[in-house]
Formats: sequence, C-alpha cells, structure tokens
Amino acid sequence: MKNKPELAQKLADKTAVIGIIGLGYVGLPLAIAFAKSGYKVLGFDTQSKKANLVNKGQSYIDDISSKELVAVSPKRLQATADMERLNEPDVICICVPTPLSKSREPDLSHVIHASKDIAKCLQKGQLVILESTTYPGTTKEVVLPALEKSGLKAGRDFYLAYSPERVDPGNKKYGIKNTPKVVGGIEKASTELAVLLYSQVADTVIPVSSMAVAEMTKIFENTFRHVNIALVNEIAQLCEKMGISVWEVIDTASTKPFGYMPFYPGPGVGGHCIPLDPSYLASKAKEYDFSTRFIELAGEINTRMPHYVTSRIMEALDSRGKALKGAKVLVLGVAYKKDVADTRESPALKLTQLLDAKGAIIKYNDPYIPSITLGKNVLKSVELNEENMSRADCTVIGTAHTSYNINKIVKASKLVFDCRGVTRGISGNNIVRLGE
Ligand SMILES: NC(=O)c1ccc[n+]([C@@H]2O[C@H](COP(=O)([O-])OP(=O)(O)OC[C@H]3O[C@@H](n4cnc5c(N)ncnc54)[C@H](O)[C@@H]3O)[C@@H](O)[C@H]2O)c1
Repeated sequence: MKNKPELAQKLADKTAVIGIIGLGYVGLPLAIAFAKSGYKVLGFDTQSKKANLVNKGQSYIDDISSKELVAVSPKRLQATADMERLNEPDVICICVPTPLSKSREPDLSHVIHASKDIAKCLQKGQLVILESTTYPGTTKEVVLPALEKSGLKAGRDFYLAYSPERVDPGNKKYGIKNTPKVVGGIEKASTELAVLLYSQVADTVIPVSSMAVAEMTKIFENTFRHVNIALVNEIAQLCEKMGISVWEVIDTASTKPFGYMPFYPGPGVGGHCIPLDPSYLASKAKEYDFSTRFIELAGEINTRMPHYVTSRIMEALDSRGKALKGAKVLVLGVAYKKDVADTRESPALKLTQLLDAKGAIIKYNDPYIPSITLGKNVLKSVELNEENMSRADCTVIGTAHTSYNINKIVKASKLVFDCRGVTRGISGNNIVRLGE
C-alpha cells in the first residue's frame, strides 16, 4: 500500500494522531500512555459524560489519578462523543466492552457498533486495531466486513490488526510499559505498523502470524486462569474434608522452582474478564462441533463457589448455636478483587446476596465501594470499627483489601469466616477458613 511509509513516518516522528474508542478501564490508560509518549490522542466514548470528564482532567478509573490526566489533557489528549470525528486519527484502537448476553452468549454489539461508526468515516491509510477481548476470528469475520462496507479494502486501502489488552487493574508491578504486547495483523504491513505503534508505549511487542493467533492467545491466557482457579477451588473443598490446609499445601507446592504456579481459592471468580472470556471461546468452539470441557467444568465449579461458601458460613454459625437466618453478618470487601473499585461479576458480592437471601442481616464495609444493592435495598458501606465487628455474629472476609488490619478484625469479631486465607498465622478459635 502506498501510504505505508507515510504512516510509518508519522508514527516514528510522533505526528500521527491516535484515536481510542471506548474510554474505560482499558481505553483510558492506553490513551494516556500514547499521549505521554508524545502523540496527540483523540478519545471517543458514547458516554459524553466520560468524554467531558477526560476533557476536564477528572479521572474516573482507579489506576489513573486526575493528576496524570491533567498532565496530558487537553493539550495532548482530548475526548469526544462525536463519532464523525473518526476520520481525524491515523490509528484507531477499539477498546469497547465484550460482555455476554443474558443467555451467556458473546455480545459483540459494541464492537459492531464501533466498527460501523469507523466505516462511515474510514480514510485511506488508517490503521484500525481491535483490542477488546473476543473469540478467535472476530476481527476477520466481524470487524473486517463492517469496515469494508465503506468501499475500502483492508490490506490495500487501510490496515487492520488485533492486539489484546492485557491490563491487570490494581497491579502496581505490571502496566502497559512492562507487559509485552501481542500483535497480529491481517497482512505483513498491518502487523509491522501495529508493532511500530505499540513499541512507543510498551518495552516488548510480540508480532504473531495472524489476527486469530493474537485473539486465541488472549482468550487462552484468561481460560488458563479460570481453569486453574477452579482446580484450586476443588482441591480446597477436598482439603476441608480431609482436614488438610489448602493454604499450607499451596505454599509448600510453591517451593518447587519449576512446573508449578500458585493459584488461590476464594468465593469464586470475578471481574470483566475471567468469568466471561472463556464463554466466548466455548461458544465459538460449538461452530466446530467441539466441546470445551475444561471451560464448562471450571465454570461449574467457580459458579458454585459462592453457594458453597454460604453453606460453610451457615455451618460455622450453626456449630455456635446460631442460625444463618436472622444472624448479623458483616461482609468485608465486596469488590471482585482486592484494592479495586469494581464489583463486576464479584463473587464476594454474589456471596453477600446469597447470605441476604437466606435471611442474614447484612452490613458490609468496602473502602472502594460506597453502596451496593441487595434485592430491593441499597446498602451503604459501614465504618470498619470495633462496634460493627463485635455486634456481628459473623465477620466474613470476602475480599481482603490491603488496608484491612486482619489482626484487629480477628480480635474484635465473634466469628471470622476467611474466604481469602489472610488470617493464616493468626491463632484463634473464632477463625474459620475456606480450604481448611
Ligand atoms: N478491565 C480489564 O481489566 C480488561 C483487561 C483486559 C482486557 N479487557 C477487555 O477490554 C475491553 C474493554 O473493557 P473495559 O474494562 O475497558 O470496559 P469499560 O466498560 O470499562 O469501558 C468501555 C467503554 O467503551 C464505551 N463504549 C461502548 N460502546 C462504544 C462505542 N460503540 N463507541 C464508543 N464507546 C463505546 C463505554 O461507554 C465505556 O466507557 C473488553 O473487551 C474487555 O474484555 C478488559
């Protein structure tokens, strides 16, 4: 394509404009990374509220401080809800949600919508990259035809690639810069341009032979976590029956310097990725008359975990002469994992809902989540003080935020049910741990 050197030159000398569609957990940090590296970035979000906040330098994402945003916005980073401006960027990264429908089938409506918006404005020489997590084949089967409705042809008139986002919210050690970025283009030039682009913000970029390999890599990574968490959740239940501490077993197995990687039990799996992404692969596999049995099984085990933990809490209360119905239960941490303000698919929240449905009188504390909905009621996070802990018949550690002082919690509570193994090393006959 004759435009290739032009875009390559613009990427190299930072005169290219980078467009990011979807300014959420993935898109906003990426937009800031490109802006920081010297590009002019134009962010697009259908929620004009988010675009306005970006333009005012007010962050709404945990991992991004408003200070970081102010450093680049509005000079290098601007945001808009006006999709007609999609003709302005040289590169467009699509970072929109890929949820499941009610029947747990892939819902690609956001990807389709974004692709159609791009097609209306598609320019010769633009590079379009899908970053959203999805099943192998999406970029070629869904994005490509939508874009080519413009009359332009991929590989001839515009460039197309897939590059999965591997961000781990709340992770202080690994971010965009030091997490290798995988890239697969529709043809060589697209791959090369995408590699050049991401090399400006990531230390390592890994080109692969196709878009489908890049798509499968991401979904395999998340499926790997899903399956291994299910395995450890199953072992935890067996350990309980056998009177063995799963936590001690994991610590000991972790001393093996090769061939083992620790995963930890808990009340289930949460977040936007692990519980959802494997279903994308399982659904696609059906087209090939192929059944992804590990995914189905892992889903079964992990989905049952909040129910299992509920029955364990019930037993723990029962052995102290207290029924769950009418018991005062204080849940600590309802976010899907520690130190994040995100309850999407949160197993701790599911557990709280189950305890509520069984008639427990629920209070909760979460420094990141000011309120939750239980049935028809909206609950506000209570203060984590001695009074609230000592009044509860059971304190449940659902998500162990770093700020929690576990010693104090154990000391002040009548009974602690620890879903996360954070009370290890503390003795007390008021502690009941999952996996023991
Ligand atoms: N959050 C994570 O930790 C994470 C990690 C890796 C990959 N991913 C994947 O990245 C993708 C985005 O996830 P997220 O967590 O950033 O989602 P998000 O919900 O935080 O953000 C998505 C944004 O896209 C906007 N949007 C939706 N449709 C749009 C459209 N047609 N045009 C413009 N904007 C639109 C929404 O308003 C929202 O602000 C998903 O596929 C997800 O699976 C997420």
